[in-house]
Amino acid sequence: VDNWDGKEPLPPELEEAGLCISRGEAVAFPTETVYGLGADARRDTAVEQIFAAKGRPGDNPLIVHIGDRSQWHPLVSSIPDMAEKLADAFWPGPLTLIVPKSDAVSEKVTAGLDSLAVRMPEHPVARALINEAGVPVAAPSANRSGRPSPTKAEHVTYDLDGQIAGIVQGGDAGYGLESTVVDCTGEKAVILRPGGITREQLTDVLGAEHIVQADAAAEEDTPKAPGMKYRHYAPSSPLVLIEGGMQKAALAARREGKTVGIMAVDEHRRELEASADVFIPLGSKDKPAGIAAKLYDNLRAADQSGVDVIFCETFPKEGIGEAVMNRLEKAASAS
Ligand code: TXA
Ligand code: MG
Repeated sequence: VDNWDGKEPLPPELEEAGLCISRGEAVAFPTETVYGLGADARRDTAVEQIFAAKGRPGDNPLIVHIGDRSQWHPLVSSIPDMAEKLADAFWPGPLTLIVPKSDAVSEKVTAGLDSLAVRMPEHPVARALINEAGVPVAAPSANRSGRPSPTKAEHVTYDLDGQIAGIVQGGDAGYGLESTVVDCTGEKAVILRPGGITREQLTDVLGAEHIVQADAAAEEDTPKAPGMKYRHYAPSSPLVLIEGGMQKAALAARREGKTVGIMAVDEHRRELEASADVFIPLGSKDKPAGIAAKLYDNLRAADQSGVDVIFCETFPKEGIGEAVMNRLEKAASAS
């Protein structure tokens, strides 16, 4: 259903996918952030299929996706003011809110926590699918656990073919990085995972004094998103972030007989290409959203290039650059 704009009639693939989910099967679908793997959040057996297909640890809770604001209320026991404000400002969109849960969803979804992660996606295919299924849809990113999140239908096929009931094809993800996760269960909003909605955008709505960073919150004993402790996006050859001195680093590695991949912005291609066995252009430095959108595809390409080591440039941690650097740092630390 590439390029479907959300207008009637519903494409037949979407009707079928909605039926699959309402029958308790797991189906991959596009969202504006990354592809998700969705199943009925109320049913243990449906949710178990997600964990099995991804090879995901059972103690890592899932985000429940809704198609409409009214679906939120039965899922939660209360909606804190700041959650209401953030939903007003950014839903539908790439923002996940952690709020106190009700007992409407399967325990498997929340992995024993008493809070629930909820998001209303913006992508017309995602919303139509959720509405067609008629149930709250639990959906993590549709990758094999430990791989970069899928931003193209073919990434899902590569990781999960044969493990799931189907994939709704819907073109490339627009943001290309996962949603921002904000914990709204405490005094202040805690950014557990930077993502599509930037800190600057959150600050505009809540004010800087009402927002804290996950690391600072950890010192105050607030638990982080359980998923953040797992190895993520780990490439099979080591990824090293280089903040200046790329040529020197590449040269040194080559002197040791290693093959070298370099990931850098288009503007640095001329200067760096000769130092690399494989050069992966990340997009223009003037278009950070474009770099974010293609980052996971580029990480997958780097992984498949088979080089001994991958060097990647760093970016300013502002705007979407904060999420880009968060993912790159995770990939680098895991390798
Ligand atoms: O953009 C996205 O958020 C995508 C699309 C498909 O919507 N989904 C996604 O899901 O990235 P997943 O499962 O890959 O990441 C969910 C993150 C994990 O780090 C998980 O630990 C955290 O959210 N999380 C889920 N429920 C939580 C809760 N109750 N408290 C704290 N963290 C939670
Ligand atoms: Mg994920």
